[in-house]
Amino acid sequence: MKLNVVTHNPGKVKEFQSKFSEYDVTMVHVNREYDEIQTAYLEEVVDKGIKQLYAEGLRDFVIDDSGLFINALKGFPGVYSAYGQKTVGNKGILKLMEGVEDRSAQFKCCIGCMIGEERIIVTGVCPGFILHEERGDEGFGYDPIFTPNGELSFAEMGMADKNVISHRGIATRMLIDELRKRQLI
Ligand code: IMP
Repeated sequence: MKLNVVTHNPGKVKEFQSKFSEYDVTMVHVNREYDEIQTAYLEEVVDKGIKQLYAEGLRDFVIDDSGLFINALKGFPGVYSAYGQKTVGNKGILKLMEGVEDRSAQFKCCIGCMIGEERIIVTGVCPGFILHEERGDEGFGYDPIFTPNGELSFAEMGMADKNVISHRGIATRMLIDELRKRQLI
């Protein structure tokens, strides 16, 4: 079957494709806008996005939204992670965290999928900690300041190791499980 991936990022399409190939699913890149509502919850952004795209006539598609939620900052940058990265960046986050003892944080990835009339929304969570300095040069975004286990940062880990435990890896596996349970793939 074919599944449309609605995103501006072709890298996401490739990533989905690599996980879905063994189930005979072909990903098709759809570079198209949908409204991202203002809310603290990724699930609400994804739910509204799915409903909008469906109402506009799109069928059989996935969308996703992810972010870094820092407990001491009451969940910031959270749903504003892309904006936070563009504006204050990792250095700005480290500055906000100066002298803060509670370094706990979670990466979350919410994937929404609409196949026929079935709407599935899953969220993968990767708990960890904000480091005191940037470490490593692999990955992207907040990877250099996040460690899942207090040892290596995501940016020091390499993609294969990161994928096993990352929010996105977990959410993708959850989606595949749901689709298989419902015999959609
Ligand atoms: P998106 O919803 O996947 O586009 O992610 C929104 C923003 O969250 C990105 O621009 C990144 O700044 C941040 N982000 C999401 N996932 C990751 C990750 O795995 N590593 C580092 N930053 C991430």
